[in-house]
Amino acid sequence: MRELRGRAAAVTGAGSGIGRALSVRLAREGVRLALADLDGDALAETERALGPGAAAVTQVTDVGDEQSVQAFADRAFAALGEVHLLFNNAGVYMGGRTWTRPAADFEWTLRVNLWGILHGVRAFVPRMIEQGGEGHIVNTCSVAGLFVGPGAAPYTVSKWAAFAATLSLAQELALENSPLRVSALCPGGVQTRIHESERGRPAGLATEPGEDSAFMGEMIAQTVAGGIPVEKVVEDVLSAVREERFLVLTHPEYAPGLAEQAEALAAGRLPGMPDFEMRE
Ligand SMILES: NC(=O)c1ccc[n+]([C@@H]2O[C@H](COP(=O)([O-])OP(=O)(O)OC[C@H]3O[C@@H](n4cnc5c(N)ncnc54)[C@H](O)[C@@H]3O)[C@@H](O)[C@H]2O)c1
Repeated sequence: MRELRGRAAAVTGAGSGIGRALSVRLAREGVRLALADLDGDALAETERALGPGAAAVTQVTDVGDEQSVQAFADRAFAALGEVHLLFNNAGVYMGGRTWTRPAADFEWTLRVNLWGILHGVRAFVPRMIEQGGEGHIVNTCSVAGLFVGPGAAPYTVSKWAAFAATLSLAQELALENSPLRVSALCPGGVQTRIHESERGRPAGLATEPGEDSAFMGEMIAQTVAGGIPVEKVVEDVLSAVREERFLVLTHPEYAPGLAEQAEALAAGRLPGMPDFEMRE
């Protein structure tokens, strides 16, 4: 989609980090917005940051709840008429080993990071197909959806599932010669509040930290602190939309690791982690 001005976009997780930066940039590009987040105060702050003249509606939404996402889609289509750009971006981080963390950790990350995308796709895409014409869906996955860093199982499992959901959607639409395009946004470290994800965890899925999850919590905080600015991610996303690129790898240092992983798998070997530090 070359021309963004005058288009309409829906963004989830718009109250912070990548979602907020994306919303601000889209407003500046002349895109009309429907913004969703679990946190109403954060959403109001994003709305203020859009500046005067921006056309936006906001709705407190839990992306893990199908009815909540359907209600957001109803609101978006009612307010904007059409939706050309969908950013399924809301997400949470939780670390720890596969066998040590309680099931609730997996339930929470899958609920937000996988079901958030599935609910978004199921609520918006049929209406985007029906309206006809160009459109683009960007699902925020992660490099943790392409590689496995051991010890972050709840997050990694949910992000690989999110990537599979994104790939499925892209291939299904391509098979139907749809004008809708799909991108998987796979960032490495980005300066956001992802390391403070606990702030939005539902009380019913609360768990106690363990030594492994606490260690990974520190690691993710360091990764975020040393990460790239959100504006760089937004720049990459918009160029992928304009150039209709599927994979948005904000950290190109990871690209050689993809080939190494494929080679290891083709030879039946356990793939290693990408040697990111050494390549910098
Ligand atoms: N920051 C990074 O280093 C990094 C790296 C790779 C991928 N990501 C992904 O980027 C996306 C955006 O995260 P961010 O880094 O901007 O973090 P962030 O914490 O700054 O923003 C995430 C937003 O999602 C919202 N959210 C959480 N649960 C929700 C729910 N159930 N329903 C609706 N909204 C909900 C939060 O309130 C918050 O406003 C996530 O999917 C995350 O996994 C981030």
